[in-house]
Amino acid sequence: MGSPRHIVALVPAAGQGVRLGEQLPKAFVPVGGTPMLTLAVDGLIASGVVDHIVIMAPDALIDAAVAMLPAGPVPVSVVAGGVERTDSVRAGLAAAPLATHVLVHDAARALTPPSLIARVVAELVAGHPAVVPGLPVTDTVKAVDADSVVTGTPDRAGLRAIQTPQGFDARLLRDAYAQNLPATDDAGLVEMLGAPVRVIPGDPLAFKITTQLDLRLARTLLADNPTRAVVRP
Ligand code: CTP
Ligand code: MG
Repeated sequence: MGSPRHIVALVPAAGQGVRLGEQLPKAFVPVGGTPMLTLAVDGLIASGVVDHIVIMAPDALIDAAVAMLPAGPVPVSVVAGGVERTDSVRAGLAAAPLATHVLVHDAARALTPPSLIARVVAELVAGHPAVVPGLPVTDTVKAVDADSVVTGTPDRAGLRAIQTPQGFDARLLRDAYAQNLPATDDAGLVEMLGAPVRVIPGDPLAFKITTQLDLRLARTLLADNPTRAVVRP
């Protein structure tokens, strides 16, 4: 008998949002009157598959994040994030010692449907050690050199644009982070250990709010469906 399943969602929310260019750090910027971080946490709770949530917030906004927490059946903690996203995730992992499975889910993917979160967890508990959502790439992608000269055109059919939540066996993610290697996403660290990473179909609504255009899209979508955050899968 293994230990009972304990699924912890780590929510990186400590970025500054430089590309968005708002006054507040991005996770605290409202969409339809509600901060992105709150929407993301609401989505995780609505999925019904998360036992504990750990938010990694900017140092100066920890109290603000605590004040935004929902009172409900899922305990939520807030810890300080770090300079890079990987530093923030590492801080979250340290605050989740009991996790058997970990989801890492960007606050900036505020409109992620709870059904996608539930699908990632279903694959995880079915025994896949690393599960990430991904969508087919619609633009042609080119590799370029330092002078912006094209060096190759990978076959688009074999490419996926990866979203969050990314789900992992907790021990695997801890081992990956213990390597202290650079990577742009958590699955990238796991890949370096040689572990299989399974891609499942993503959801267009799990897009990351990065620029003003993304923010306008998110605000329009919420205005069209203001109850999105409480819809259950
Ligand atoms: N993040 C974090 N800690 C960091 C950097 C990013 O927790 N040191 C979080 C962000 O808050 C966001 C998610 O990681 O929810 C994805 O990062 P990104 O979209 O790059 O957000 P920002 O870093 O805030 O934006 P930018 O890169 O434009 O400054
Ligand atoms: Mg960033």
